[in-house]
Amino acid sequence: MFNFLKKNNEPKKLFYTTDMHCHIIPGVDHGAQTVEDSIALVKAEMEMGISHIIATSHVTKDSFENNPETLAKGFATLKAGLEKAGIDIDIKYSAEYRIDELFKEQLKNNQLVLMPNNYLLVENSFQGETMGLDELLFELQLKDYIPILAHPERYRYYNHQRYQTLHDSGAYFQVNLLSFTGYFGEPEKRTAEWLLDNELIDFLGSDIHFMQHAEILQKFIGTKEYRKIVERIPRLCNDISFN
Ligand SMILES: [Fe+2]
Repeated sequence: MFNFLKKNNEPKKLFYTTDMHCHIIPGVDHGAQTVEDSIALVKAEMEMGISHIIATSHVTKDSFENNPETLAKGFATLKAGLEKAGIDIDIKYSAEYRIDELFKEQLKNNQLVLMPNNYLLVENSFQGETMGLDELLFELQLKDYIPILAHPERYRYYNHQRYQTLHDSGAYFQVNLLSFTGYFGEPEKRTAEWLLDNELIDFLGSDIHFMQHAEILQKFIGTKEYRKIVERIPRLCNDISFN
């Protein structure tokens, strides 16, 4: 009774429960720097209804030259921190691979840390597309990897036709939920909406690096813009098997 008078202070929940793109492993890239940072981010994700996380730290030549050992070590630190804090969440790790010389080297040496189901999160440079991207995407698929292009809406050098061609060639698209808020800029927001309208979004991810990202997302959930995404997205592959 009188429930309608109660102010709903319950935190709003996302419509999916797996976050497959985030930078929560401490000290391996420019996301979380300490275990305390990591814990704060994980708690914020859980408040938004996330129950499964795939941590995807950067692997890039010259800035974050991670490899299977550095990623495993960082993840072990994160797991120990979560356990100590009594936080129980299903969590795995993979990486966000910049397509560069380091990536090609790790691919050749079978050093890539894949997601479940052989998904592989890759990103372009923000300056321009890597030469030979189409051939590389084909090569990945020959190896039975399923490439997911991270935040395609953030590559301002792409046009609509190129998005369609890339998607048709077998690259899955992961859009940052933050892009719909305008956080990265108007062009990114417009492109995210175009991808939504054209049914080219396969995954949504937070791509959170620090608390500001989580706070913006928390405010965004429940808005009219957010509901439009929920209603119009055709199907989402986010529920990557955790077996
Ligand atoms: Fe990222």
